[in-house]
Amino acid sequence: MKQGLLIAFEGIDGTGKSTQLALLADFLRRLGCDVVVTREPTDGEYGRRIRKLYLDRGRCTPEEELDLFIRDRRQHVTDCIAPALAAGSIVLTDRYYFSTAAYQGAAGCDPDRVFAANSFAPEPDLVLLLTMEPEESLARIRELRGDRLNDFEQLDQLRKVARLFASFPQGCITRIDAAASLDEVQAQVRQAVLALMARKGYRCEP
Ligand code: TYD
Repeated sequence: MKQGLLIAFEGIDGTGKSTQLALLADFLRRLGCDVVVTREPTDGEYGRRIRKLYLDRGRCTPEEELDLFIRDRRQHVTDCIAPALAAGSIVLTDRYYFSTAAYQGAAGCDPDRVFAANSFAPEPDLVLLLTMEPEESLARIRELRGDRLNDFEQLDQLRKVARLFASFPQGCITRIDAAASLDEVQAQVRQAVLALMARKGYRCEP
């Protein structure tokens, strides 16, 4: 039976990951692909605990935070990602362990140790890393979402996160400038995914 494909969208907050992921999912479904859309933090037990932390990160140490994200990911891999890949689906995840290395790295954990602690998680076939200046991404969050910033989104912190994302050397990462128009970004996203499918000989017919 054919193995699926795992594609992760990564980047700092406000880069448009979720919008681009949804557009890609529609595109792939129109091609006849079986697509599973998912995200981290998940809606499971640990993901819900993480969301409660958004407004007050001071309540736990970086290590405790890291532990929660890893527990959430273990459950995500076991319950969703691994079965979907075994069934041959294309899994699109909004954030994965690169976010943990970047965000918990920015909070003081050693990024290499974070990657090592995630070795249980299948390596993605492709990481679409949307890049943007933190000032611009925060301006987008304020203007477009009208949100107040959560504790994961403050500027200094986000600069550190962006620097870490920029430093990751993994070959599966494709960087895309998210300051371009929505259509241009989507065109690059599709190009990278179609190239991956061709490389892997992955076809969408059932
Ligand atoms: P986000 O993608 O903004 O989720 P939502 O839009 O559903 O609220 O992610 C929430 C925050 O969690 C984001 O600021 C990044 C942070 N985060 C980490 O710090 N570590 C991680 O491992 C993950 C997956 C997310």
